[in-house]
Amino acid sequence: MSEEPVIRITEPAPFVRLVTMNRPGALNALSGELLGALAQALDGWRHDEAVRAVVLTGGERAFAAGADIKEFPLQTPATQILEERAALFDAIGRFPKPLIAAVNGYALGGGCEVAMACDIIIAGETARFGQPEVNLGIIPGAGGTQRLPRTVGKSLAMLMCLAAEPIDAKRALSAGLVAEVTPKELTVERALAIAKAIVARPPLAVRVAKDLILRSYDTPLDAGLKLERRSNAALFGTEDKQEGVAAFIEKRPGNFKGR
Ligand code: CAA
Repeated sequence: MSEEPVIRITEPAPFVRLVTMNRPGALNALSGELLGALAQALDGWRHDEAVRAVVLTGGERAFAAGADIKEFPLQTPATQILEERAALFDAIGRFPKPLIAAVNGYALGGGCEVAMACDIIIAGETARFGQPEVNLGIIPGAGGTQRLPRTVGKSLAMLMCLAAEPIDAKRALSAGLVAEVTPKELTVERALAIAKAIVARPPLAVRVAKDLILRSYDTPLDAGLKLERRSNAALFGTEDKQEGVAAFIEKRPGNFKGR
């Protein structure tokens, strides 16, 4: 175990947590220890009503430069399965509350995949996204061949995964991989501003909207529209809906409880 924590957790605003990956000497390579700490934090917040949104960031040079390649020499198919690295990545994918990635510098391999598993990506101008795994004789193992083409389309995904060519923030924006590009000093600030805007809104509605948008990737349109209608009907029964409507009519901010 390293002396420095591999992730730092702060509470920059009520209901918001900021997670900073902290292995600057290894460009935040995703060691088993770092992935485990991240998964543990997220799993702990699943049912914690004091947490409504999470921002995930790295450092100035790297969001994360991928899986820790220095752990690879001893890894075999069996260790890959037994260490349940996939399960650690899944903890990010199954987190039910909004997760915003604030990316400066490299987001490569598993780092790009972690960012893609988040709900919104804000990129600093220095951000570089790539899937260079083929250089190591392997392929993206945590969504690069699946989430990336669904987001940027086949041609660019092929370029990134087969030629290992990274893309810069501007290109990531035009391809729809990121929501916004900011000066690098403002990336975390902007991500936190979005998180604060989200946590001021009704948590149940936010949660259901997130769930439905993620489901849209593998739900036929007709079934998705039905699910949307039924989910919305259910939300009409919540206290937060009563509060939101009353706040609008009374011209005041809503005070939402997630009930
Ligand atoms: N794993 C372990 N260590 C890493 C690392 C990684 N993925 N990326 C960088 N580092 C380490 C370097 O070894 C170096 O450490 P030392 O000083 O102890 O040698 C330190 O971080 C700084 O890196 P560089 O000196 O290489 O910095 P650079 O500016 O010259 O290059 C870089 C930056 C282009 C990002 C280069 O470090 C690089 O190519 N890194 C590997 C990127 C990669 O291949 N990622 C995919 C990994 S596989 C994967 O992620 C599988 C999966 O999907 C689950």
